Amino acid sequence: MRILVCKNYEEMSKKAAQMILSQVTLKPNSVLGLATGSTPMGMYKELVSMYKNKVIDFSEVTTFNLDEYYQLPITNDQSYHYFMHENLFNHINVKKENIHVPNGMVKDIEAECSRYDNFIKESGGIDIQVLGIGHNAHIGFNEPTINFERGTHLVDLKESTIEANARFFDKIEDVPRKAITMGTGSIFKARKIMLLACGEGKAEAIYNTVYGKVIPEVPASILQFHNDIVLILDEEAASKLNPEDYKIV
Ligand code: F6R
Repeated sequence: MRILVCKNYEEMSKKAAQMILSQVTLKPNSVLGLATGSTPMGMYKELVSMYKNKVIDFSEVTTFNLDEYYQLPITNDQSYHYFMHENLFNHINVKKENIHVPNGMVKDIEAECSRYDNFIKESGGIDIQVLGIGHNAHIGFNEPTINFERGTHLVDLKESTIEANARFFDKIEDVPRKAITMGTGSIFKARKIMLLACGEGKAEAIYNTVYGKVIPEVPASILQFHNDIVLILDEEAASKLNPEDYKIV
């Protein structure tokens, strides 16, 4: 695990965007695994500005999002489909047909999950997977549980996740109770992984991810076994780590 610590959120976002730029420059037809949530928003802003300044070209890129709420229409401004278009896709030249977000509105969820996994496989697999992390160390919507799930699946969200995500909805009752997410196994298959975290609230999850036992009760802990992973943190998220274990950038 490589751990890079940046002064603040802005610097973390810039660093993360530079990593995506390097990836897409070296391999223009890269397959990007993308996350939603507040953490990567600054990175998306940087990428949009790089695109506007003609520094990066997304015309051959394919994207797969980690997750989507179950039974929340894509027209709802809290759907992850909506989020991604608002924050990134509408402002860059990625082709519509190359954008993939799980469809939470389908009746046959199992078919949708295997369709999604097959799409990832047929696209050649994910070159770089961007991750945020929940306070309970969830990645995607792989909540703490008793086993690591392999592929895309439907999950019941934990009460703590519902509470954390309520900040985006009018009231907590509006937060969907279920979501479709890529499994820990699918995430792990990405060739490179870049996990972003900021703020003191994530410090414990980061500590457990880096030093804890590799157990499904701490979903992100499995990343300790990945051979090409970088954590990009702000100082607060890194506050519980031993300074010998990270590089200040
Ligand atoms: C979102 C996702 C989640 C978030 C996590 C952190 O696609 O996969 O795992 O990354 O809940 O969310 P924020 O960034 O809002 O703290």
